[in-house]
Amino acid sequence: MIDLEVKAKSRTYPVRIGSWRDWDLRGLLDLESMGAWALVADKRVWEHWGQDLLSAFGSAGIDPAVLTLEAGEPMKSHDSVFQVYDFFLQHRLKRDGVVVVFGGGVLGDLVGFAAATYQRGVRYIQIPSTLLAMVDSAVGGKTGVNYRNHKNMIGAFHQPDAVLVAPEWLLSLPQREFRAGLAEVVKCGAIRDPQLLTLLEEADPQRLLRSTVLEEVIARALAVKAAVVGEDETDMGVRHILNYGHTFGHAIESATSFERFLHGEAVAIGMVAAAQLSTRTVGMDPEAAKRLEALLVRHGLPVRAPHVDAENLMELMTMDKKASAKGQRWVLTPEWGKATVSTQVPTEEVRRALTYVLES
Ligand code: GLY
Repeated sequence: MIDLEVKAKSRTYPVRIGSWRDWDLRGLLDLESMGAWALVADKRVWEHWGQDLLSAFGSAGIDPAVLTLEAGEPMKSHDSVFQVYDFFLQHRLKRDGVVVVFGGGVLGDLVGFAAATYQRGVRYIQIPSTLLAMVDSAVGGKTGVNYRNHKNMIGAFHQPDAVLVAPEWLLSLPQREFRAGLAEVVKCGAIRDPQLLTLLEEADPQRLLRSTVLEEVIARALAVKAAVVGEDETDMGVRHILNYGHTFGHAIESATSFERFLHGEAVAIGMVAAAQLSTRTVGMDPEAAKRLEALLVRHGLPVRAPHVDAENLMELMTMDKKASAKGQRWVLTPEWGKATVSTQVPTEEVRRALTYVLES
């Protein structure tokens, strides 16, 4: 069991990483102050692990009302939020109520947003079921839904009261999704924790999912995320470094209609491009960029996106919603474990870095 703390400006909360059998919710949460419990779960995840989760709650005397929903990007809509509000109302959730969300990033964002807005905000607990959600979206309080064609356009920062991570639940995750989640772990290492990258270089990719090292890998990635959120809760400065590889990655996802690559896979390719850009702009050693690429390959991640049009990607990147009025913000890594943000990157260098990952 590994315990971390997120010290965000608006709230400090625990992150507990380890088997659900050892969570000890009575010791972790202030149950006396908590009213009714409403749990929203991903239907597929619930079928696998719902009884385990109910046992973990049952041993602390918690008996939540349960709603299961399909997962998937189309669920991030206002209609789904209304469905969740109806569920809260039906179970008479009051301001002292507690919402639990059990699933991946889409459900976490959706239910987190419902919790942020229902009666001007009720407490919620994130129980992520995918590696991507465990190391990224479940921590940091970003909640929201899509609006028309705009991803995550409507939302709120609302920090959870606790995040509970049981790595054993990853056993039911498709292997491809597990690998895609590792891209966000590599990202955390690349920007802040070179030892995490070394740990992944040494880990056996075939055994990682069942190995005891996994808990440490998740905890190290989460420690990076927790520290960055602690420094910049509302994403006005240093939190941008969590987008390492994402500007290239989002454009690649979008240019391939969100069908060819999973988010983490596109981020892996994006990090290879970002590392190339870093060698040309902030003096990253080309050997360090190659080593990062080799690490991604070792863990079964794609590092090239052949047959994607460079000019289309350049155009998509200028429309990136994370750009500021000063232009695109590039996250660059002068060395393993160090990140900087710059808006002063020559377009020609961006095109070169892109060309590197588009070669077959
Ligand atoms: N996923 C990036 C962030 O939480 O800021």
